[in-house]
Amino acid sequence: MNSFSFTLYIFAVLVLLQCLSSTGAATCHPDDEAGLLAFKAGITQDPSGMLSSWNKSTPCCSWKGVTCLNSDRVTILELVGYLKKPERSLSGTLSPSLAKLKHLNVISLGDHGNITGPFPKFLLQLPKLRYVDIGNNRLSGPLPSNIGVLSMLEEIFLEGNKFTGPIPNSISNLTRLFYLFFGGNLLTGTIPIGIANLTLLQNLNLGGNRLSGTIPDIFESMPLLKFIELSRNEFSGRLPPSIVSVAPTLLSLHLNQNNLSGTIPDYISRFNRLEKLDLSKNRFSGVVPKGFINLTNLNNLDLSHNLLTGQFPDLTTNTIEYLDLSYNQFQLETIPKWVTSLPSIFLLKLAKCGIKMNLDDWKPAEPLYFHYIDLSKNEISGNLERFLNQTWYLLELRVAGNKLRFDMGNLTFPRTLKTLDLSRNLVYGKVPATVNSLQRLNLSQNHLCGELPATKFPASAFAGNDCLCGSPLSPCKA
Ligand SMILES: *[C@@H]1O[C@H](CO)[C@@H](O)[C@H](O)[C@H]1NC(C)=O
Ligand SMILES: *[C@@H]1O[C@H](CO)[C@@H](O)[C@H](O)[C@H]1NC(C)=O
Ligand SMILES: *[C@@H]1O[C@H](CO)[C@@H](O)[C@H](O)[C@H]1NC(C)=O
Ligand SMILES: *[C@@H]1O[C@H](CO)[C@@H](O)[C@H](O)[C@H]1NC(C)=O
Ligand SMILES: *[C@@H]1O[C@H](CO)[C@@H](O)[C@H](O)[C@H]1NC(C)=O
Ligand SMILES: *[C@@H]1O[C@H](CO)[C@@H](O)[C@H](O)[C@H]1NC(C)=O
Ligand SMILES: *[C@@H]1O[C@H](CO)[C@@H](O)[C@H](O)[C@H]1NC(C)=O
Ligand SMILES: *[C@@H]1O[C@H](CO)[C@@H](O)[C@H](O)[C@H]1NC(C)=O
Ligand SMILES: *[C@@H]1O[C@H](CO)[C@@H](O)[C@H](O)[C@H]1NC(C)=O
Repeated sequence: MNSFSFTLYIFAVLVLLQCLSSTGAATCHPDDEAGLLAFKAGITQDPSGMLSSWNKSTPCCSWKGVTCLNSDRVTILELVGYLKKPERSLSGTLSPSLAKLKHLNVISLGDHGNITGPFPKFLLQLPKLRYVDIGNNRLSGPLPSNIGVLSMLEEIFLEGNKFTGPIPNSISNLTRLFYLFFGGNLLTGTIPIGIANLTLLQNLNLGGNRLSGTIPDIFESMPLLKFIELSRNEFSGRLPPSIVSVAPTLLSLHLNQNNLSGTIPDYISRFNRLEKLDLSKNRFSGVVPKGFINLTNLNNLDLSHNLLTGQFPDLTTNTIEYLDLSYNQFQLETIPKWVTSLPSIFLLKLAKCGIKMNLDDWKPAEPLYFHYIDLSKNEISGNLERFLNQTWYLLELRVAGNKLRFDMGNLTFPRTLKTLDLSRNLVYGKVPATVNSLQRLNLSQNHLCGELPATKFPASAFAGNDCLCGSPLSPCKA
């Protein structure tokens, strides 16, 4: 027997023993059985029969979602719902009787969407818990101030509920945590400074709450951090200087939709593993530092809706697939060469970027994959026809407020196109009936003329042209 098959043999024996101990001996600690049956009683709807195997005629260790490792005590309770499918999820409340499951390591009851009630305080009586997922339910009320008693906790998922109030200070006691997911709740107050004690943290997600104040300078003690998600809160002030300490590990930084200000610091150049950077919808100002050229793994870059000025550095990365620099105070003059040569970009938004080129001079390396384009509010002239013909997957094209001049009657749309905003340009000719394949259209403020084809679009989509007529505008003169 070689070492590999020996390992396999040992594994098989362990699995066999496991089966014997969990089902064969018909053992199940009565406390655990009672706790689980009380849990079942708190569930009001179970349309897919997730709990149908839960009855006294079989030992609880064999019930669906229940695991007993090495003894008659339940160590894992795992019943995950399907957010988009209520018919495969549970409704009801979480019975406090689950506190009887004293040996529980893992409790995973997320994604049911319809489990209600306050924070399940019974969790605090289960000090062996290492993994808690009650995310994406409808739990509400404050988090318990003594949540820090769960000192063995490694991963906690509370996201997507309606929890209110502050993040408890005792969170600083959860020093084994590597996943902290509190996003998408109604939490208020500031980030407790004690979070700096979570030195094993890899993923910090507090996005989509109502947290405020500055982002505290907590990052120096978190050398393993890979993901920071603090978007959609009310944070203000500058980036905390200690964030540079996570530069060697950070893959994703989401700070969008806050009220952060100051310049993007030069040390951004040290985040050379960064794949996703979203600073959009803040008040960052000044020039984007040259050091951006060192971010050679960037995949998603969104700096839109800030107060950034000047030119943008010439990146050499070819990994960007999602790029939004819209609505700053950039003066790019043309669509930058490095953007034009990106081989796999599917979203390009450069609205109000001071672009003054002729579209006929733009020859993107790989137009095929574009799904979303927004070049609104520039001074782009020329014809859309050639570019549109080269795209295969385009869903959305926004070029409102430019100087495009071409015959609308000649446009052919990729069959994928759903949204076209050409308003406030110099487009002439007739509106072709093919616009009916679109879901959203705006041709207002151009030089179009002639009878409109029958469409579902409102009058405002056609208003302000030279001589368009017919429904929904006024009838054509005979
Ligand atoms: C109890 O569960 C077993 C195993 O799923 C099932 O075969 C049996 O019909 C159930 N009995 C009752 C009374 O629900
Ligand atoms: C959610 O739970 C309530 C009360 O138990 C129930 O009336 C409702 O049908 C449930 N909704 C879904 C989508 O399961
Ligand atoms: C946090 O840990 C400290 C020191 O170990 C302890 O004194 C305190 O009671 C703990 N707080 C909570 C809420 O567990
Ligand atoms: C957090 O860390 C600080 C400084 O490292 C220490 O003084 C404090 O006792 C720690 N708190 C907890 C709850 O571990
Ligand atoms: C954003 O921060 C500025 C100061 O930097 C402040 O004047 C403004 O009121 C804040 N806006 C919001 C919505 O908090
Ligand atoms: C990019 O990184 C290299 C080494 O990693 C460094 O020498 C250089 O100064 C950086 N460039 C900028 C503009 O920060
Ligand atoms: C666009 O494609 C249509 C149909 O495939 C073709 O008739 C037209 O000449 C093309 N226009 C340009 C500018 O390539
Ligand atoms: C469409 O394009 C062709 C060739 O470029 C041109 O001759 C014609 O005038 C344009 N307009 C219409 C309505 O066909
Ligand atoms: C079209 O754009 C104009 C401004 O450019 C706007 O006023 C109008 O509401 C828009 N109509 C539709 C249907 O989007």
